[in-house]
Amino acid sequence: MDLSASGLTQRLAEAGQSHLLQFWGELSPEEQADLTHDLQGMDFKEISGFFKNAMETSSSSKQEKMDARMEPVPREVLGSVTRDRECLKDWELAGLQCISQSKVAVLLLAGGQGTRLGVSYPKGMYDVGLPSHKTLFQIQAERILKLQQLAEQKHKIKCHIPWYIMTSGRTMESTKEFFSRHNCFGLDKNNIIFFQQGMLPAMDYNGKIILENRGKLSMAPDGNGGLYRALGNQGIMDDMERRGIEFIHVYCVDNILVKVADPAFVGFCVEKGADCGAKVVEKTNPTEAVGVVCKVDGHYQVVEYSEITLATAEKRSADGRLMFNAGNVANHFFSFSFLRDVVQKYEPKLQHHVAQKKIPYVDAQGQLITPDKPNGIKMEKFVFDIFQFAKKFVVYEVLREDEFSPLKNADSQDGKDTPTTARHALMSLHHRWVLNAGGHFIDENGRRVPAIPSLKDGTDLPIKCEISPLVSYGGEGLEELVKEREFHPTLMIDKQGIHELVKNGV
Ligand code: UTP
Repeated sequence: MDLSASGLTQRLAEAGQSHLLQFWGELSPEEQADLTHDLQGMDFKEISGFFKNAMETSSSSKQEKMDARMEPVPREVLGSVTRDRECLKDWELAGLQCISQSKVAVLLLAGGQGTRLGVSYPKGMYDVGLPSHKTLFQIQAERILKLQQLAEQKHKIKCHIPWYIMTSGRTMESTKEFFSRHNCFGLDKNNIIFFQQGMLPAMDYNGKIILENRGKLSMAPDGNGGLYRALGNQGIMDDMERRGIEFIHVYCVDNILVKVADPAFVGFCVEKGADCGAKVVEKTNPTEAVGVVCKVDGHYQVVEYSEITLATAEKRSADGRLMFNAGNVANHFFSFSFLRDVVQKYEPKLQHHVAQKKIPYVDAQGQLITPDKPNGIKMEKFVFDIFQFAKKFVVYEVLREDEFSPLKNADSQDGKDTPTTARHALMSLHHRWVLNAGGHFIDENGRRVPAIPSLKDGTDLPIKCEISPLVSYGGEGLEELVKEREFHPTLMIDKQGIHELVKNGV
């Protein structure tokens, strides 16, 4: 292949990236063609601008802690499932009404690489080992289906909740194939819209792009905030407009408890006239490494644990709760017009964050090296970076044990956010649903298990109990099935009926 004719040698030299061709002579014609293709699609000027800005922002933010500029979320913008119990029903009805009018869409962030979980396929395809062996994608799909049915029953009108699924270059094909193999889990395929976020090269600390092998650049998705650019350049906002979408619920693929298009959350945000809302869980431990939603210099943002001093993290309000306790769980509400403004006006103003990583690379001799300490950066935008642009921002606090159990890590002894903790959290929730609906459990000796839900955080052993989302979205509709009945675990309730797996010797 003639390099000089392509003009690539010169472009790379001007961009200070000539090292990317150092193994050119050793590559096969196919490898040369692939590398040329990747390099030709790259805007080096833009990438080096991203690098410069990200490094500058990251070094200046390291110097100064945020403490003095922070204020907690004021009560008037806060809705809480525990403190505002009397409003919950109204919010839920308002949300269901919007859903019945097909004004609500859900948007799934599924472009991550799942490095910590360590599987080669997209995280949504993961089976955490529930009795049904449903994957995260299937659980979410069935919740959407059920919610459509609930809205249709209530308002006697056919409706759809379009599902926008953001993948990355690495996850698009397998995700699509998985959905089509499973017949979209019963959803109408015309209402599932896949789109792809951008990728950026990993760089060393001098701004040189890293080669992951002799003929291939090390590329990574540009963070879940890559959403906004992708929405614009893949025509997704136009698609939403065509469908008449007014409200969008954005969430992450890895939260097994996620209440997709949660009508109470949507209804709360709509009733408050919000353009942007964040669902949060209470941060109770000052040293927990979770970002908190708060105001900084009068604008809402998420402040990471590393950006504040311990003294601020430990501050408490008069009610004994942590003062900065609005733990961000990447679960957001946007009005369509706000999202359109973000995509059209604000996205280019967002800076990339710098994540220092151990990035495998080839050395000058062409040897593949796996570093044992960080050797470069990946650049990412975050989905919550846009809170600052909201005109009416609200926060909705929910119970962690009901709504948040993310799958981040592979199983290990006492591991946090693992398949085991996710499975336990879901079964514990469903156990509580059965108890609340008047059902009881019997142990292997035929004795009633005390009606005390066993766990808060998924770490001790729960009663084995799983209820299909096709039967109940959020615990509703179970009384007629379980009230005053006794069950042997493992209990499964699905569309086909009630199954007690152990009793039946399964
Ligand atoms: P995480 O930051 O936990 O990343 O993503 P991850 O890819 O799941 O896991 P690690 O860090 O590689 O182990 C939080 C959510 O944001 C999405 C993920 O798919 C997940 O739903 N995400 C992350 C994207 O959609 N794009 C990205 O570039 C990064």
